[in-house]
Amino acid sequence: MELVKTYAEEIALELNGWVELDEIMNLIEQPKFDKQGDLAFPCFTLAKAMKKSPAKIAEQLAARISNPYFEQVIAEGPYVNCFYNKSFVSLEVIRDILHMQSDYGASAFGQTKTVTLDFSSPNIAKPFSMGHLRSTVIGNSLALISEKCGYKAIRINHLGDWGTQFGKLITAYKLWGSEQEVKDAPISELLKLYVKFHQEAGNNTELESEARLWFKKLEDGNPEAQKLWKWFREESLQEFSKIYSLLDIGFDSNDGESFYNDKMDEVVKLLRTKQLLVESNGAEVVDLSDYSLPPFLIRKRDGATLYGTRDLAAALYRKRNYQFDQSFYVVGQEQTLHFKQLSLVLEKLGYDWPQDMKHVSFGFILKNGRKMSTRKGGVVLLEHVIQQAIDLAENNIAEKNSALPDKRAVAKMVGIGAIIFHDLKNDRQNNIEFSLADMLKFEGATGPYVQYTHARACSILTKSSFKPDQLEPAGLNDEHSWPIIKLLLAFPEVIAKSFDYTEPSQIAKYLILLAQEFNSYYAHVKILNEDIEQEGRVALVQAVAIVLKEGLRLLGIKAPEKM
Ligand code: ARG
Repeated sequence: MELVKTYAEEIALELNGWVELDEIMNLIEQPKFDKQGDLAFPCFTLAKAMKKSPAKIAEQLAARISNPYFEQVIAEGPYVNCFYNKSFVSLEVIRDILHMQSDYGASAFGQTKTVTLDFSSPNIAKPFSMGHLRSTVIGNSLALISEKCGYKAIRINHLGDWGTQFGKLITAYKLWGSEQEVKDAPISELLKLYVKFHQEAGNNTELESEARLWFKKLEDGNPEAQKLWKWFREESLQEFSKIYSLLDIGFDSNDGESFYNDKMDEVVKLLRTKQLLVESNGAEVVDLSDYSLPPFLIRKRDGATLYGTRDLAAALYRKRNYQFDQSFYVVGQEQTLHFKQLSLVLEKLGYDWPQDMKHVSFGFILKNGRKMSTRKGGVVLLEHVIQQAIDLAENNIAEKNSALPDKRAVAKMVGIGAIIFHDLKNDRQNNIEFSLADMLKFEGATGPYVQYTHARACSILTKSSFKPDQLEPAGLNDEHSWPIIKLLLAFPEVIAKSFDYTEPSQIAKYLILLAQEFNSYYAHVKILNEDIEQEGRVALVQAVAIVLKEGLRLLGIKAPEKM
């Protein structure tokens, strides 16, 4: 039900060509105060063309518009204020939701279009960092939101699985490594080797050249180097997959940087043909001084390609393979320059699609105000942080509802939900303070609060004897249900906006509002009272449960029915 559109159409009809429908839609406001109605149309901009005062125009429009959805349309100065017919609108929206179930809120504007999402993308042989967690959580949610808007979403895990660090790692492993230790704890063992390499390289310059040699061998396909690299990659991937399975997140492609090794010549050739390659200290770069940006590195002095070269190859490959209409790179703020350069170089190559590429950047995770690292102070593995959240959730649940069956399974949904919600409830550019105790609270703007509200709605439904498919809801128009109805009405628009701004936070904030309104309703209204509006109230509860659950799903969060 698109009431803004309905209102705009009524106005357009009366204005008879003076203003386009789209413009009317843009002009329509949602007033802050209830007494100004549900929608307001300002007439200022029409005055000049129509040679009438805005107030006069408003008065004439108000007198003419009539529609069953609108109980009252009145002029207030230069505004035409419209009041919804509450019973009628609430009945329609509740029916819509009960009928469409989890499909409610979907849009069609992405249909037949493809969006690629490059997210998570951790580096082999290094810990999965807090930054990678943010990328994973934001990217996954954006993929789900894109699909809700009709897009085909391609999830790409652009693994950091190539580069000179592998020369160092192989060198270190051959000197100090043990197969069993790497097998037992791949990430921390490989990291130790990497760190040791840097410590030792300080007093022993030969190590660096040894590492370069091994990387060269790796690039040239030397079997021993290849075997070790493959093994490190496998072990790391297995570690990462523990995190993905905890979060219940999957990818369409794990093609990382190494995948583009044999696709780099084409890029270099292309750049050369377009005369974009410039020599700089023996290296080859693309000059971007016309944009006042530093040059983009394509090839090092020894001929080795770089992170950026691989991203150029990846962009070309993705455009060709997926024919994306939009391409999102969910990567931290610190790579802003890189993605700016990447787009510009592609533009210089003569393509028009770099404008469809978007760096979806985000801030840091802080601990006590300082950037949180999964590396320092020994290795704090992310997996352990997640386990800790689950344990804490289990404690909280045991306190609140000791009789709950299958506590561990629910705790998993709650602990993980808490981490995800905490990440997604703020605008992504903000830094976020990571506090397990805060994010696991059952009160306030937390995931568990929304989940708990959903479970509360479910428990009311279990107690009521109604079957949703047999419900004949009455229209509701009391002061407590109306704010909920208005929020339910807004759900499709909130999702579309969260896609447009690539901001899952829009949905998270919305869910908090909906949960708050519902809890206030619960506190004021006797839902299961035997009277003629009971079916309407139960239907409202059902609609709220559906929307809370679907909203959480779009964030990548599960909604247990009991907790
Ligand atoms: N592996 C990189 C890092 O950890 C992120 C890769 C992001 N994606 C890309 N196409 N550059 O910093």
